[in-house]
Amino acid sequence: MALLTEELASTADPGVLRGVMNYMVHYADQFHHPLEDLLFARLQRKDPSVAASIEKLEQEHADIGKAGASLLALFTREDALTKSEVEKATVLAREYIDGLNRHRELEERTVFPLANIVLETRDFEAVRTEIKWQTDPVFGPAAAAGYLMVLERLLRH
Ligand SMILES: [Fe+2]
Repeated sequence: MALLTEELASTADPGVLRGVMNYMVHYADQFHHPLEDLLFARLQRKDPSVAASIEKLEQEHADIGKAGASLLALFTREDALTKSEVEKATVLAREYIDGLNRHRELEERTVFPLANIVLETRDFEAVRTEIKWQTDPVFGPAAAAGYLMVLERLLRH
């Protein structure tokens, strides 16, 4: 998300904005967040004390998905955005980034430390099978062709 923040603050390269949002919508929302939801469900069965945090995180996954799809639609428009649409996209993108950061902080503060203690290797293996896990196209062992621009920009940081 630092890359998206930087792009918004500087020249806002449309290719990088599209690449980041493509990654979020077509990878994070399709595989990463569903994987977390399955892990959270297993965690909640083993330790119901985290139910409130998990309910909030699952709702945030849904909200992140909707907001990300809206941003991707704006960043992939064929015609140029009007000045007011650019302002709207900037507000949406900043809310998206802030929401993702709050979401990650809640995960790291509440469920991830507990998951590391409570869940077993077989739990992680089981959920990867349940969602037909895909290798990360940016941070995995080999970047997918469509994400090379994003990866190149990340490497230049
Ligand atoms: Fe998450």
